[in-house]
Amino acid sequence: MATTELSKRMSRFSGSPTSALQVRVSELKRQGKNIISLSVGEPDFDTPNYVKVGGIKAIADGFTKYTPGNGIFELREAIANKLQTENNIECTPDNICVCVGAKQAVYSSLMVLCDAGDEVIIPVPCWVSYTEMVKLSGATPVLVPCKSDFDLDMEEIKKAITPKTRAIIICTPNNPTGVVYSKETLAELGALAVAHDFFIVADEIYEKLVYDGNEHFSVASISKEIADRTVTINGFSKSYAMTGWRIGYVEARKDIIKGVMSFQSQVTSSNCSISQKAALTAITGPQDDLAAMVKEFCNRKNYVFERVSKIPGLSCPEPKGAFYVLVDVKAYFGKSYQEWKINNAVDLCEYLLVTQLVASVPGEAYNLPGKVRFAYATSMEDLKTAFDRIEDALAKLQ
Ligand SMILES: Cc1ncc(COP(=O)(O)O)c(C=O)c1O
Repeated sequence: MATTELSKRMSRFSGSPTSALQVRVSELKRQGKNIISLSVGEPDFDTPNYVKVGGIKAIADGFTKYTPGNGIFELREAIANKLQTENNIECTPDNICVCVGAKQAVYSSLMVLCDAGDEVIIPVPCWVSYTEMVKLSGATPVLVPCKSDFDLDMEEIKKAITPKTRAIIICTPNNPTGVVYSKETLAELGALAVAHDFFIVADEIYEKLVYDGNEHFSVASISKEIADRTVTINGFSKSYAMTGWRIGYVEARKDIIKGVMSFQSQVTSSNCSISQKAALTAITGPQDDLAAMVKEFCNRKNYVFERVSKIPGLSCPEPKGAFYVLVDVKAYFGKSYQEWKINNAVDLCEYLLVTQLVASVPGEAYNLPGKVRFAYATSMEDLKTAFDRIEDALAKLQ
């Protein structure tokens, strides 16, 4: 085999650990193993039927060609209407660029905003892709710890700001913690962005998944000065169970959107035409499926939080949104069972996967060792079985 080396870039960043785990889980399932995956950030619900019909109609109508690079006008218009009425963000279709999922929306935005030598503040724990995307843009991620309840720690953020600070990336409702930032916290962060003139990349992909009367708030709605420095990211994967359709979007100042379009014109040309029509159907159609899904996620959140709270040594703040719990597992470090010795969360997740066929993600993936993230985007029946297995496995560790 030829040994010609890969680019140096490849040694500076790592692939998504959750995607790698997903490949492993699929392979174990293919081998016939009865794996319960609490690792994947994907609603188990089917894409609502009316949305599928929208996609099928697009195919039947022959809507199967390239579209404008920023997305079809009707979809951008519907997104702009939604952001104005639901999120109080002043915008027009020209402030929107449709992307291949929120993931590409974050990446394209960072490529447009950041240069080599810039610093991007990332409160941790954080979603697995932010640090690596920042590195790919040439900038340097600056990791700032959150408070123990996972809320933003403004004092730590202030300490991390330097003349090189170009942006901060926030995610609310948060993956992996389930925290929802309050209006006051976001206003304080917005004031810092204005005072020090840096951007806020606000990933709001879980905005619809909030529970117990908690409310999602968009930082771009606070003032024009803050909106001018904010790039709002959202998409259809989580709210409409459309992960495979790959539709997300960026809302921002027109010059930023032009940059995102220009970047994507060289990388993806346009988004899938069929998926855009399906997304348009999703956003303009009846929202009953969404309401039913949120209700069920809330039941699961209550169940999982109660189970975690009852297992000796485990603890986590009660999630307010998204579909994850980030559980402290340090009480089990140093314990063992048969050949299994648990030194960290990676060991614990491996123990649960191999001995109990339960997949979960170690906190190391989110830059916070000592924790394990369990997703509750799976059926109540599977959650019950999974937590029975987890409880048994932890009880065996001495
Ligand atoms: C915080 C966060 N942002 C963005 C994404 C990407 O979503 P999409 O499927 O729209 O690319 C995810 C998916 O897991 C996520 O958790």
